Amino acid sequence: MSDGHAVRAEGLEKRYGDKRALDGFDLAVREGTVHGLLGPNGAGKTTAVRILSTLIRLDGGRAEVAGLDVARQAREVRARIGLTGQYAAVDEVLTGRQNLEMFGRLFHLGGRRARARAVELLEQFDLTDAADRGVGKYSGGMRRRLDLAASMILAPSVLFLDEPTTGLDPRSRGEVWDSVRSLVASGTTVLLTTQYLEEADKLASRITVIDRGRAIADDTPDGLKNLVGGDRIEVVVAERSEIGRVVKTVARVCEGEPETDEGTLRVHAPVTDRVSALTEVARTLQDEGVRVEDIGLRRPSLDDVFLRLTGHRTDRTDRTDRADRADAAEKDAVAA
Ligand SMILES: Nc1ncnc2c1ncn2[C@@H]1O[C@H](COP(=O)(O)OP(=O)(O)OP(=O)(O)O)[C@@H](O)[C@H]1O
Ligand SMILES: [Mg+2]
Repeated sequence: MSDGHAVRAEGLEKRYGDKRALDGFDLAVREGTVHGLLGPNGAGKTTAVRILSTLIRLDGGRAEVAGLDVARQAREVRARIGLTGQYAAVDEVLTGRQNLEMFGRLFHLGGRRARARAVELLEQFDLTDAADRGVGKYSGGMRRRLDLAASMILAPSVLFLDEPTTGLDPRSRGEVWDSVRSLVASGTTVLLTTQYLEEADKLASRITVIDRGRAIADDTPDGLKNLVGGDRIEVVVAERSEIGRVVKTVARVCEGEPETDEGTLRVHAPVTDRVSALTEVARTLQDEGVRVEDIGLRRPSLDDVFLRLTGHRTDRTDRTDRADRADAAEKDAVAA
């Protein structure tokens, strides 16, 4: 089933009570690429990653990682993968170097090999200067990079990254992105889950969109962005009566058909020549004396993709207590 694919899943099912966390989920990740798994809270991303990394059992369907069946060859799969979970696994009290050496020992590397591997990884993830500082004093981005380094101890051929940049500031996010790029350059296949279209776009060569336990799209980043029409200019007016004039100006300056949202007094349209379109629209509206509350450029988000694919916005109501879920998953892992 693998044929050039590092990960392949067909019809994966996972139920928690009546809840179908995965409901016929399909995925194919080509070797040596970053594949984005993009979806909102509760879509089933972590569940998919846990099944593929053999932490929990599947209820139906089948999956292969590195050509091995996750249900029947779990131990062999584990020897070939790395996993950076949604929640950091590193110890705050230890230094970066001590953390990596400890993970090395856990993986039976032996003292000297563990120390040497720690040095290499600190270098690769740009943490050499911070190596002997306590992790408690690391920034979010540094911690995430240390997490990545820890999951790379055994140089796995497939690495699962579960929301590696959620909660990071833009600079730290950029640093993690660089680390992921360097991993792929060294031949690792990465499955990266994210809630950010921008992140999947920056890193992945292919993106699967997941909603309620199913893949609802599988495309290149450009394909997905074309679906939502790329960057948009967005104007918010102070009064409903102004919408007509804004639509006229935006239609003249921008390539695409403007859309309006009467509820939020918003007019938006696709743009390619971003800055000049913005300048032109702003100037014209000012000359015409239109009262603008807000004007700007917006990159397409997961929300936009969802709206196009499903006709509804992402469903943000499903935020079950994460700690409970992690607990339950841990028990599940022990059972498996
Ligand atoms: N251990 C568990 N016990 C019960 N329900 C669970 C468990 N793990 C996940 N679920 C439920 O399964 C669904 C998918 O959850 P999952 O954690 O895979 O989503 P996710 O895409 O990773 O979301 P997030 O972006 O919030 O991390 C959710 O409805 C969640 O509440
Ligand atoms: Mg998750």
